[in-house]
Amino acid sequence: MLTLSFKCLLIGLLCLYPKAEFPNEPKPCKYGDSECIKEATNYFLHKKEGDNSINLPPVDPLLPTKIQISQGADSPVNIDIALTNSKIVGLSKALTTKVKGFGKDLTQKHSVSVKVPGPLSIIGDYVISGKVLILPIQGEGKSNITFVDVTITVDFTGTPVEKDDGTYMKLENFHLHVEPKFIIYKFDNLFNGDKALGDNMNKFLNENWKEINNELRDSIDVAFGAVAKDIINHVYTKYPYAKYFNE
Ligand SMILES: *[C@@H]1O[C@H](CO)[C@@H](O)[C@H](O)[C@H]1NC(C)=O
Repeated sequence: MLTLSFKCLLIGLLCLYPKAEFPNEPKPCKYGDSECIKEATNYFLHKKEGDNSINLPPVDPLLPTKIQISQGADSPVNIDIALTNSKIVGLSKALTTKVKGFGKDLTQKHSVSVKVPGPLSIIGDYVISGKVLILPIQGEGKSNITFVDVTITVDFTGTPVEKDDGTYMKLENFHLHVEPKFIIYKFDNLFNGDKALGDNMNKFLNENWKEINNELRDSIDVAFGAVAKDIINHVYTKYPYAKYFNE
C-alpha cells in the first residue's frame, strides 16, 4: 500500500487541491435505503470526533453555540434559559431507530430518529429567570440538564441549490422533537447562592419535570432544532446531494 503522502508525491499537483475525498467508509448508500442510511448514521455518531470529509463537527461532546430557551408569558412556565459554554455529552451512544426519505428527489420529506439509551447531558453555564408554575426562579451559574433515554427525531425537506459542480441540498421546514423518559435538572447557585432556596427549587423542578416539560417542550425543540439544523445543513454543503448516494 502506498502511503497518502507518497501518492501525493507521485500525483504532485493534484494534491495541491485540499479538497477532501468522500470517505471510503461507510460506503455511500443507495437512494432511500433506510437500513443502509441507519448504519451510516450510527457510524458517524459513534465516531465522536466528527468527520471533516463530510463537514461533521465532533458529536460527543458536541459544542453548540448559545442555546436559548424562551417560553412566553401565556404559559404557567414563563422562563428564559440561556445556556452558554455548553457541551452536550452522550450523543455517541445514540442508535438510529428510523430513517425515511433520502430518495433521489431531495425536495421530499426526510426524517431520522435516534434513541440515546441512558443520559444525554447539557453541561455548562446558565442564566435563568422567570416563573415556574407560580414559583419565581432566578439565578446563574453551572448547570446540568440531563435527558434520560431520549428519542430525538428530526424531519425536513430539501430545497435544491445549483452550483457549478451539481445540485446541493439546503434544509427547509426543519423540525426537531425531543421525547425523554424523564429529565434531571441541576442548577447550581440559584437565587444568588441561597442554598436552601436553590435545593428546594431543584427538587421542585425534578418532581414536576413532566408538567414543566409539557409547557417547555416546544421551546426546547426549537432551541435544539437550531443546533441540529446548522450541523446537518453544514454536512450537505460539502458535496452535491447525489454524491452522498449510489444509484
Ligand atoms: C449530569 O447529571 C447526570 C444525571 O444526574 C449525571 O449522570 C452526570 O454524571 C452529570 N454530569 C456531570 C458532568 O456532572
